[in-house]
Amino acid sequence: MTQAICIFDTTMRDGEQSPGASMTHNEKIELAKVLEDMRVDVIEAGFPIASQGDFEAVHAIAKTVKSSVVCGLSRAGTTDIERCAEAIKPAPRQRIHTFISTSPIHMKHKLQMEPQAVLEAIHASVSLARNHTDDVEWSAEDATRTEREFLLRAVEIAIRAGATTINLPDTVGYSFPNEYGALFADVIARVPGADQVIFSAHCHNDLGLAVANSLAAVQGGARQIECAINGLGERAGNAALEEIVMALRVRGDGMPYSSRVDATRLLMASKMVSRITGFPVQYNKAIVGKNAFAHESGIHQDGMLKHAQTYEIMRPEDVGQGSTNLVMGKHSGRHAFKDKLHDLGYELSDNAFQDAFGRFKALADRKKHVYDDDIIALVDDAAAHLDETIKVVRLRVVAGTDGPQTAEIDLEIDGKPVWTTQRGNGPVDAVFNAISALVPHHATLDLYQVHAVTEGTDAQAEVSVRLSEHGRMVTARSADADTLVASAKAYASALARLRAKRERGVDAQAAG
Ligand code: KIV
Ligand code: ZN
Repeated sequence: MTQAICIFDTTMRDGEQSPGASMTHNEKIELAKVLEDMRVDVIEAGFPIASQGDFEAVHAIAKTVKSSVVCGLSRAGTTDIERCAEAIKPAPRQRIHTFISTSPIHMKHKLQMEPQAVLEAIHASVSLARNHTDDVEWSAEDATRTEREFLLRAVEIAIRAGATTINLPDTVGYSFPNEYGALFADVIARVPGADQVIFSAHCHNDLGLAVANSLAAVQGGARQIECAINGLGERAGNAALEEIVMALRVRGDGMPYSSRVDATRLLMASKMVSRITGFPVQYNKAIVGKNAFAHESGIHQDGMLKHAQTYEIMRPEDVGQGSTNLVMGKHSGRHAFKDKLHDLGYELSDNAFQDAFGRFKALADRKKHVYDDDIIALVDDAAAHLDETIKVVRLRVVAGTDGPQTAEIDLEIDGKPVWTTQRGNGPVDAVFNAISALVPHHATLDLYQVHAVTEGTDAQAEVSVRLSEHGRMVTARSADADTLVASAKAYASALARLRAKRERGVDAQAAG
């Protein structure tokens, strides 16, 4: 008999706090629906006090999601908690997650509060949150660097004030698994009322230990794990949701715990988050990386052909990777395309389907074989640029040995057509100069990366662009059979995101 572990997703809160990983309002709603369909227990939808945009996104998600708990984050102050309560109000199942730092270094330097004042703030904030909802989570930020006796008192106060979940974050990713597991066991054994609440793990990956620490916390008595798709999160990220879910599933023999998450949607969710944030998934990433189920060495291939379990501890289809990669081409019709989309986990509206089919046909005219990854790139690209305020309409580039290269571009900015021709030191430089002439900015280009979606010289190119301007950072990605078109679309998209971020403005101090 396995015990249930509550999966708390923080992709849209801690994940969105990673530098450059912004998500639009509609992208957050789209992701929330995917998380709900995956049966994630709690969705931390954002930090409502941080900005009007964050508030609106949490509110819209609270109106949309019915079965998962919708959670908003707030610091310990009254305005934060009330704003959070208002944002999550429409959700049938709602949670306020309030936190304050408890470690000496945070209390002294960050909060500039005396320990006694922190204890009083815990009591006041949790009590206030409980006036708004029965489901209140309290976090001791930097719990792993907190003096043990003080932590015990803080947790006891939070429980007395009505917290129903107690989170002990490893905010700076400092713990070892044995220490983190022992922390939970100790707190649960010594705090009165600990048996009445759920304990939660929230681990950062600064030393690459986030997943191991989360699992150790479960062994110490935690029954909720906070994690994010693709391990997105502050700095080196949070524990990766897909790794937690599959570790519990594959190693049920070693740890008798399970989650309700539908693992067959993990790959799709990973691709979606990568597309939305523009953060590529590393090839050798566990569970969802391109190479997670690929075998190249002759010995491994031979073993696999004889018996898959010689080198695979789970099947690709368990995490949503199609067991076949049937090639489509220009003769494939609507019906086959619809079936393929369904197999890949997409349910498109009629309009989106017509659009995707048109793009597929155009691609199939240029490319002999259209693989699953091509289709995923094509559909995701259309979705990623749907709401874009800066659109690339037409591009013509003159390149070759005799410079300077030139780019002639037509853009649509907020629905208005604009046009220019610019020169550059190479074709990409010319394209970016042309876009910059139409969209003036002070951003610097931190990253320009190209990779082929599939093999072959006719493969689609996927381009990632990262820009930063006055401490704001954005990443965007685009795919196209033409590398320069993909580059133009990614650059325009990054500028549109930067503009949105500038307009949105983040005024609250970021959480850990
Ligand atoms: O890492 C952390 O401590 C956090 C808290 C706000 C839960 O993200
Ligand atoms: Zn965190």
